[in-house]
Amino acid sequence: MSQPFIIAKGLTKAFGEQKVLKGVDLEIYPAETLVLLGGSGGGKSVLVKHLMGLLCPDEGTIEVDGEFICQMNEREQGPVRRKMGIMFQNGALFDSLSVFENIAFPLREHGLKDKKEIKRRVNDALKIVRLGDQGNKMPAELSGGMRKRVALARAVVDRPACVFYDEPHAGLDPITADKSDLLMRSLQTDHGIANVVITHEMRSMLRIADRVAFMKEGEIYWLGTPSEFEKSDDPLLQDFLHGNSGNNWSERTRSQ
Ligand SMILES: Nc1ncnc2c1ncn2[C@@H]1O[C@H](COP(=O)(O)OP(=O)(O)OP(=O)(O)O)[C@@H](O)[C@H]1O
Ligand SMILES: [Mg+2]
Repeated sequence: MSQPFIIAKGLTKAFGEQKVLKGVDLEIYPAETLVLLGGSGGGKSVLVKHLMGLLCPDEGTIEVDGEFICQMNEREQGPVRRKMGIMFQNGALFDSLSVFENIAFPLREHGLKDKKEIKRRVNDALKIVRLGDQGNKMPAELSGGMRKRVALARAVVDRPACVFYDEPHAGLDPITADKSDLLMRSLQTDHGIANVVITHEMRSMLRIADRVAFMKEGEIYWLGTPSEFEKSDDPLLQDFLHGNSGNNWSERTRSQ
């Protein structure tokens, strides 16, 4: 296997009294799709923010492409951060900027000034998410699924080596969710991008993941392939896969 793109070792993080990460080790390999699962509040979003260098751990190290990001100041972090993109939950678009300007934002922020180059890169990103002719629209004129695709275009416009997605399937109909999965797959296979995807959609996990990490209470509780996940006899993984909360539905509905 190739060298990992990201190596996180022994990450701990507390907010006040609350220990949110309790010693997380995780590696992200180039051009792989890793799906991060786990119950609400388990620390998935906090972990992703660490992997991107948006948060620094109390203990432990994060190495991105051979560089220890938490030892750097913000200016030194710039070039490393540019190797990563993020698609936030809810899209987080700027409502007062057009689709084109939303996607151009990271390029301008990273100091690109050449207007032709910006146009070329934004149009390429729009093509990747199949929104080629929608650049002039405002976010309010888009459907939820389209907003998510704009957010994805913005995450990939600076040609990152790794893209993080925080619940990209939330609020999408099954067919649009399937299309997003195809898009993530094509970023990986056609553009060599590593995907780190937080999702609660088990169907998508089975379709897109090369590896699955299951987080529980601030630790990586389980790590393996989707087929190992399906075959696992761990009750917690099985309940997650089948959406069981311990209620006996057939009995409950009969008694009502
Ligand atoms: N900036 C912060 N300050 C204080 N507490 C925080 C902060 N960010 C997260 N937390 C706490 O850390 C815990 C883990 O949060 P996190 O957002 O990582 O959960 P999650 O696994 O992503 O859950 P969900 O599936 O609901 O999104 C939560 O209890 C949350 O309240
Ligand atoms: Mg979260």
